[in-house]
Amino acid sequence: MAIKKVGVVGCGLMGRGIAEVSAKSGYDVVVSEINKELLDKGMAAINQSLSKAVEKGKISDADKAAALGKIKGTTDMQDFKDCDLVVEAAVENLDLKKKIFTDLDKICKPDAILSTNTSCLSVMNVAAVTKRPEIVLGCHFFNPVPIMKLLELVKTITTSKATIDAATEWGKSLGKTVIVAPDRPGFIVNRAYMPYMVEAIEMLENGVASKEDIDTGVQLGLNYPMGPFTLADLAGLDTILFVLDAMYAETKSPKFVAPVLLRKMVTAGHLGRKSGKGFYDYNK
Ligand SMILES: NC(=O)c1ccc[n+]([C@@H]2O[C@H](COP(=O)([O-])OP(=O)(O)OC[C@H]3O[C@@H](n4cnc5c(N)ncnc54)[C@H](O)[C@@H]3O)[C@@H](O)[C@H]2O)c1
Repeated sequence: MAIKKVGVVGCGLMGRGIAEVSAKSGYDVVVSEINKELLDKGMAAINQSLSKAVEKGKISDADKAAALGKIKGTTDMQDFKDCDLVVEAAVENLDLKKKIFTDLDKICKPDAILSTNTSCLSVMNVAAVTKRPEIVLGCHFFNPVPIMKLLELVKTITTSKATIDAATEWGKSLGKTVIVAPDRPGFIVNRAYMPYMVEAIEMLENGVASKEDIDTGVQLGLNYPMGPFTLADLAGLDTILFVLDAMYAETKSPKFVAPVLLRKMVTAGHLGRKSGKGFYDYNK
């Protein structure tokens, strides 16, 4: 299962990052979008991200040119036919992901590994629509992909050891630290992160402390790079609510009940940095 050519479905926030780090590590990459306009936008963002890496002295101009030369953008899924590994990074919608996996299963060579970057959907759901569930897994990257060091692989009850081994080797070659999580709600990282987020928001909601004090307490007392509210504004409150609701739907565990305040803030459009206002105000 030697991986030489990597396919990425979706050139949004995550897909473009996965394409960039794969190309920088010497893999041939095909990245797809639903239309030329979105593809051009994604490719321009990859170019910009590589330019930033050059400015910071992390890579040379020649490295940037070599990486760009390795990436082929496409709007035709048929271009995945000779990929050894495909990472699906389309929007978080199970029906869409099932359709993409059904198509990939028909298009890709029989031994190609298929994976999804889903944050919270069950990987088994997409593995089950293919005729190759033993070579389907989750490849959960973190945002921003070129900077975040973790790759959380997700092993379903059907994923083979050889598939995990091949994906681990690939992840390490991208400079990532690889962990293997079970295909259970939240995998490892969100399972730890979400109850922590719920507790922080409920502390604020119940007047236990101010958001500033909770942020400072966690940051300095636990030596986290940032407190829960700063992180929530960065991740997007809508994303956190979506993940919590998905985890609650699957587990019915009270640990994953979204706080009322979070739901109201999302309804109000207070989504964090991306909307200009979340727990903090970014319009000032
Ligand atoms: N944003 C994050 O912080 C983050 C972190 C980890 C995992 N994820 C997961 O990664 C996936 C992608 O998230 P994102 O933040 O990059 O979303 P995004 O909206 O930025 O990008 C998704 C892209 O996929 C494209 N797309 C949709 N259908 C497609 C298709 N059939 N073929 C090709 N492209 C298609 C869309 O046009 C869009 O540009 C989701 O499953 C998400 O849950 C996101």
